[in-house]
Amino acid sequence: MKYLADLGSDLELSLAELITVYPDLRIEFLGKNYVILSAEKWDYKEAIHRLAGTRRIGKLIFEGKNFEEFKLENFVNFNELPEKINYSINTYGVNFEKTKKFRKKVVNEIKKQGIKLFLKKPSYQKGTVLSPSDYYNKKVHIELNLVKTNKGFSVFLTECVFNHKEYEKRDKEMPVQRYSQAISIRLARMMINLSSAKKNDVILDPFCGVGTILSEAVLMGLNVIGTDISFDCVSDARRNLEFITDNNRKKFNVLRSDAKIIAQTFYENKLSKVDAIISEPYMGPLMREPLTYTEIMVLKKKLESLYKEFIFSAVKILKQYGRIVFITPVFIMKNKKKVSINMHSIIKNMDLRVVNPLLSVIKNFEMPFYYKRPDHRIGRNIWILEKFK
Ligand SMILES: C[S@@+](CC[C@H](N)C(=O)[O-])C[C@H]1O[C@@H](n2cnc3c(N)ncnc32)[C@H](O)[C@@H]1O
Repeated sequence: MKYLADLGSDLELSLAELITVYPDLRIEFLGKNYVILSAEKWDYKEAIHRLAGTRRIGKLIFEGKNFEEFKLENFVNFNELPEKINYSINTYGVNFEKTKKFRKKVVNEIKKQGIKLFLKKPSYQKGTVLSPSDYYNKKVHIELNLVKTNKGFSVFLTECVFNHKEYEKRDKEMPVQRYSQAISIRLARMMINLSSAKKNDVILDPFCGVGTILSEAVLMGLNVIGTDISFDCVSDARRNLEFITDNNRKKFNVLRSDAKIIAQTFYENKLSKVDAIISEPYMGPLMREPLTYTEIMVLKKKLESLYKEFIFSAVKILKQYGRIVFITPVFIMKNKKKVSINMHSIIKNMDLRVVNPLLSVIKNFEMPFYYKRPDHRIGRNIWILEKFK
């Protein structure tokens, strides 16, 4: 069976997450914001919950040049539909105007069943694909995805769509929120997935803040240890974890520690080595204005020294082949030039290597993943490191 996975705007990051969690999927074709996959069997309904970077998954229902042979009734049970339905046609690498013939065929087939139908278009004017929030807000019943391929066109019927509302609800329910410091739940989940941690593994966030990564990890069936230098953060993270685990103390442990001496803290508290370390560390003071070149250089040096000391200590409490999924800041100067942290020089002479999950998938792709939202003042580089000894 062939599937379409819509990977949204963070193609590389989302693809890496997808193939890390589902390594048996075969990649048939990689587009600008989507991938066509094949597998004997894939629990895609579980996948849309597990993954944070995949926006929708569709099943192949047609492949070819001539739409004459295409019949929706073979895939959709019209008896189960209401009298009026909303439908959408997403296009991937195809000009919407060129889909007229196809749309006409689909519309006629549905109308013949006595069903009235309304086309829903993306709110974002230039968009060719409904966003997940559009999909849910516009109450779409049938969604078809048209992809241009070397065989002509492929049509995928949407089976499941990423539900952003689940994330928003979780975010709002947390007893302590601190948006200025916390990363998004979505990014937290992607990082956890990239760490390859499995159910019941123990993960550590040594700059845990209010515990966004830890809370998400607990929901994914992991056991978590969090540390932070700030007493307030330790108590806030504890409150969030008590809430999310129903006060199950076996699932979490939050301590105060400077990340630079994390191995010593583990030793003093008789803690065992962890399976993975996942963290967004301290990246400098909150900025109202872009920093000057000199300010960035001073901060960069300070952060490089913090990260180096931390990673040096962290390797000692990480199991062999365990991963560190770690964010480093990318400062953007007034002239738009970017200044980033050199991870390769930080981990030089340590038993760590940089993992590139896309090595055999995207030619010339080099780690790290770059992540930036329009409302963020700084960008983020996401690294995957693996302890090889
Ligand atoms: C960006 S926040 C972490 C956000 C967190 N990942 C979350 O999603 O909630 C950085 C955290 O690092 C902590 N911090 C700063 N310096 C530290 C150090 N040397 N050791 C441990 N924690 C530190 C700060 O108190 C702050 O809570």
